[in-house]
Amino acid sequence: MKNINPTTLKSWEKISAHFDIIKHKNIIDFFKENKSRMKEMSYEWEDFYFDFSKNRIDEKVLKIMSGMAVEAGLSDAIKDCFSGKKINVTEDRSVLHTAVRDFSNEKLNHNGLDVIPEIRRIRKKIKEVSDKLINGNWKGYTGKRITHVVNVGIGGSDLGPKMVCEALSFYKNHFKTLFVSNIDGDHVMEILKDCPPETTLFIIVSKTFTTQETLTNAETIRSWFLKEANKNDISKHFIAVSSNLKKIEEFGIDKENIFPMKNWVGGRFSLWSAVGLIISISLGYENFEKLLKGANSMDKHFKEAPFDENIPVIMSFISIWYNNFYGSETEAIIPYTEYLKSFPQYLQQASMESNGKSVDRNGDPVNYQTGTIIWGSTGTNAQHAFFQLIHQGTKLIPADFIGFKKSLHKKNVHHDKLIANFIAQTEALMIGKNQKELASEKVPSDLIPYKIFDGNKPTTSIFIEKLTPYNLGALIAAYEHKIFSQGILWNIFSFDQWGVELGKKLANNVFETINSKKIIKDNSSTKNLINIYMNS
Ligand code: F6P
Repeated sequence: MKNINPTTLKSWEKISAHFDIIKHKNIIDFFKENKSRMKEMSYEWEDFYFDFSKNRIDEKVLKIMSGMAVEAGLSDAIKDCFSGKKINVTEDRSVLHTAVRDFSNEKLNHNGLDVIPEIRRIRKKIKEVSDKLINGNWKGYTGKRITHVVNVGIGGSDLGPKMVCEALSFYKNHFKTLFVSNIDGDHVMEILKDCPPETTLFIIVSKTFTTQETLTNAETIRSWFLKEANKNDISKHFIAVSSNLKKIEEFGIDKENIFPMKNWVGGRFSLWSAVGLIISISLGYENFEKLLKGANSMDKHFKEAPFDENIPVIMSFISIWYNNFYGSETEAIIPYTEYLKSFPQYLQQASMESNGKSVDRNGDPVNYQTGTIIWGSTGTNAQHAFFQLIHQGTKLIPADFIGFKKSLHKKNVHHDKLIANFIAQTEALMIGKNQKELASEKVPSDLIPYKIFDGNKPTTSIFIEKLTPYNLGALIAAYEHKIFSQGILWNIFSFDQWGVELGKKLANNVFETINSKKIIKDNSSTKNLINIYMNS
């Protein structure tokens, strides 16, 4: 990988110069000037329609930014990633979540070993366990079939599987699926309230198997379970997914029930691996495989399409354009379907844990902006919550609108209205409303300033045929590759997460202080907070 400060690239200079020329231009004027803009700035790919024409960019931006990607070595970086080079340098690891969803017959060597046979073996095991649970051959300790499946994990071991199970709940079978993540004991106890011990299966998911939250929850669940059952029954009710086999055995989980994870699959990119077991159990393995295949197809598009026709790469350009040139700090994700209500939250970890970095790949502090703040919620709910600020606030917030042409429950009147809102909002954000229009509508002059919409607010529309496992897989992969491309262009390492370590360590110290009742903290605020808690 090239490790170049992007602001020193020739193309960066060109982008800056062009930005100065067009920065105040209105999106509507871009449309007026170029009659074929809509065609030039929208792509069809499989079931996707990707329209980025309602952005403050012109053809030249796309051209120069494609040049920047060439200059920064994005093509080689993509090749390095897919071929298993150790691009996660600070952890000395490859980044191969794409291999887990690869169905080709090609070999993939990692440290001199072809990883594909092992990937196939795990997939086969995911299928066997899912089938056995679904057809009722997997029985609980009293001989009854399993009715509830609980995923116990946090961060990447929770957000991805949870988001996918929720997003594809239309395709779900009879299992009740539940997720425990927070170390908050009230969380785990509320979930356990709904779980019959004799028919509940727990999947403990932790890549490291050292995460405080997951281990504490797993121990609480085991004690709760052992109040009703015996140690020998654990094998019928506990499965583990982890790369730390020694720790799992110490916990007491049967060898047969262990799904090994590889250190070349990053936590926040792991839903495609055995971390997604709960997806396969609750949707059936066939649907899990469709999810993987959709992602794999987006992988091929990302690897093969030229940059100016490459959906994830263009998404990264748009983000960099607003972040580094307009100074926008946030990006909103607005899915027009309740099924995707956790998608913004899922993307927060995927994007912010990856690109929230301030040191570049040479170990130097960056002198430019990197990772954006990701937030959002579903339309139309969001329209009645925070859209006011997007329309009339002081901040420029680029937004991705995600919608599906077909409704799953075929409630077509609802769907017509839902999609009408999706489309209308992208139009309203762009065109706004000016003084003249308001005056012609006889709006009292003292109210006119409050009713003006400046417009020129950028949106990207991702309009997909239908919410299916395959299309969801492709959508998630598109964002993963956007994140990857951003990281390459910003010259940062996207696959480590050292920034979460300090808080973990200090939480352990404070916990020890609380446990030992000996105050050792010297900061007066911290000491006072501990005191208040200990005396409560
Ligand atoms: O919060 C840091 C982190 O390491 C995430 O990257 C990861 O997804 C999460 O913790 C959970 O880690 P593990 O799967 O090892 O329990």
